[in-house]
Amino acid sequence: MVEEHTVMTGTRTYLPDPSIRDQATMQEIETRHREFRDDPGAFWDRVAGELEWSRPYAKVREWNHPHARWFIDGRTNITRNCLDRHVNNGRRNKVALIWKGEDDEERVFTYRQLAREVCRLANGLKSLGVGKGDRVCIYMPVVPEQVISMLACARIGAIHTVVFGGFGAGALNHRIVSAGAKVVITADMTLRRGKRIPLKSVVEEAVVEAPSVEHVIVLRRDLEQPVEIHAEIEVDYYGLIGGMARDCTAEEMDSADPLFILFTSGTTGAPKGIVHSCGGYMVGAYYTTKNVLDLKENDVYWCTADPGWITGHTYVVYGPLLAGGTVFLTEATPDFPDPGGWWRMVQEFGVTILYTAPTAIRMFMRFGDDWPNRCDLSSLRVLASVGEPLNPEAFEWFYRLIGKEKLPVVDTWWQTETGMHMITTLVGEPMKPGFAGKPIPGVVADVVDKAGNSVPPGTAGALVIREPWPSMMCGVYQNEERYRQYWSTIGTCYTAGDMAVKDKDGYFMIIGRSDDLIIVAGHNIGTAEVESALTSHKAVAEAAVIGKPDPVKANIIKAFVILRQGNVPGEKLKNEILHQVRMNLGPVAMPSEIEFVDSLPKTRSGKIMRRLLKAKEMGIDPGDISTLED
Ligand code: PRX
Repeated sequence: MVEEHTVMTGTRTYLPDPSIRDQATMQEIETRHREFRDDPGAFWDRVAGELEWSRPYAKVREWNHPHARWFIDGRTNITRNCLDRHVNNGRRNKVALIWKGEDDEERVFTYRQLAREVCRLANGLKSLGVGKGDRVCIYMPVVPEQVISMLACARIGAIHTVVFGGFGAGALNHRIVSAGAKVVITADMTLRRGKRIPLKSVVEEAVVEAPSVEHVIVLRRDLEQPVEIHAEIEVDYYGLIGGMARDCTAEEMDSADPLFILFTSGTTGAPKGIVHSCGGYMVGAYYTTKNVLDLKENDVYWCTADPGWITGHTYVVYGPLLAGGTVFLTEATPDFPDPGGWWRMVQEFGVTILYTAPTAIRMFMRFGDDWPNRCDLSSLRVLASVGEPLNPEAFEWFYRLIGKEKLPVVDTWWQTETGMHMITTLVGEPMKPGFAGKPIPGVVADVVDKAGNSVPPGTAGALVIREPWPSMMCGVYQNEERYRQYWSTIGTCYTAGDMAVKDKDGYFMIIGRSDDLIIVAGHNIGTAEVESALTSHKAVAEAAVIGKPDPVKANIIKAFVILRQGNVPGEKLKNEILHQVRMNLGPVAMPSEIEFVDSLPKTRSGKIMRRLLKAKEMGIDPGDISTLED
């Protein structure tokens, strides 16, 4: 570690260990930047050329603002590149997936075995009448079958929509109905801190008013007390695939065909279904896993995200499998049975790349240095972070305790919508705590004012992307207008919704969301969804929620509630309202605090000014309040 110079925030710059900051690596990064600048088409063509296409694309890109088409007329199937390509080219018996359960159970799949399981389920889905273009909702715990389900859908061209297991019946129903899912794949339960949390019963409730659902496939994990399977629409997972063939020809997909829909919390109203394509997404996921996370042949790669979020889609499942890596996956909770579990797993499995989130790092910081220090972490060679700003204190701890002041820490900024990493330091580049880094080769990002003009270094502005990139979302499901908004709010740029500052070296510091999303422990929660869950309680007349800063979770949700006449504020009612939100949206979206109020600050047009509530809560200057009603 060498301290280089001071940047505007006063944080230090860290030069990576000389062994990784070698001349060749730095030159390679420079070359890639230059190649992209010189000829973006040729640049992406080279990347896409490393993957298999059953029909070569005629053209790399066509940009018709706000719609881009990538790898035009090309045909492939992402599972061909995730599975068959490896099975047929020397990685047949290489370990693709290592899974560890909370109770020490272990399961290991080679590429051949994973391909076989995917094909069996793909055939099972077909036998239920699922085909290309049909939507399948996956609501599962973190088990190999969750990954297999995603790949099985992709195999036959069905569009998966994965819903994080922490969501409740209301949120699940909404997503199933919005996607018009024909099949739901679930499990009897998920294990969390030694407790069984039922999933199937949530699905039962969620599908009552979901007429599109024809079948529910149930993975029964508890074979001693198996849950009952209701014959009308439910099917047992292993019963279904039991007699199925181990081969299933991959459906030929056009580059532009949708691969999946992932719902992300909307700023106003309903969550929006972000759609990613088969071709462009594949190329972006592959490129960044190799070049940002630096995945190599002998790595044991662990991304701690749940496959139910975009990080899990791109960097637990598709990216590392496209790159032929060995993926480690666990259902275990980070601090259960004690805060040493993660570090023991790193040691035991020889994890080399660890990709996690600031909220987890901050949690481990609290538990003290002793837990990681008890383990041999020398297998690690790359550390990475995602989901929210990696604050300097958390960076230092991660770098010092886990990276032993030698390893690169790559802080990756990206979004559900971008599909892949956009801004980060690359392995070998100087690191600046608090700053994500620079746009990677292939990405043209900027910090701008309202008119879309670049602002000078040191000035805050909106984070935008100026040029299309392969894994950009190809649409918002059944909502063209919302899609267009992304590309028409600031000039013709893609507006990320984050505020940022650039320094003189071109490093981006992400300041936070400028819209109504709250990031709670790395999960993106829409204020609108929580507010409507609150107002669904009969005693609640109106509600507003804000993110209140929290040292570990980054934010907690605080709700301001106006009661209907005749209701008495108190603990009992508070708990009732919280229960309602929990039942509706699940524990992930539960407010930590509720305050009963008589009025909410509103603009003249009737919009709740959450910014004002937040300023008051934090005791800071609310800024411009000229639009306030009174
Ligand atoms: O605000 C940014 C924050 O997470 C948002 C995207 O959330 P989501 O679509 O759920 O995807 C999360 C995983 C990619 C962004 O708009 N964010 C993500 N990564 C970072 C970040 N903020 C700062 N630094 C990051 N590295």
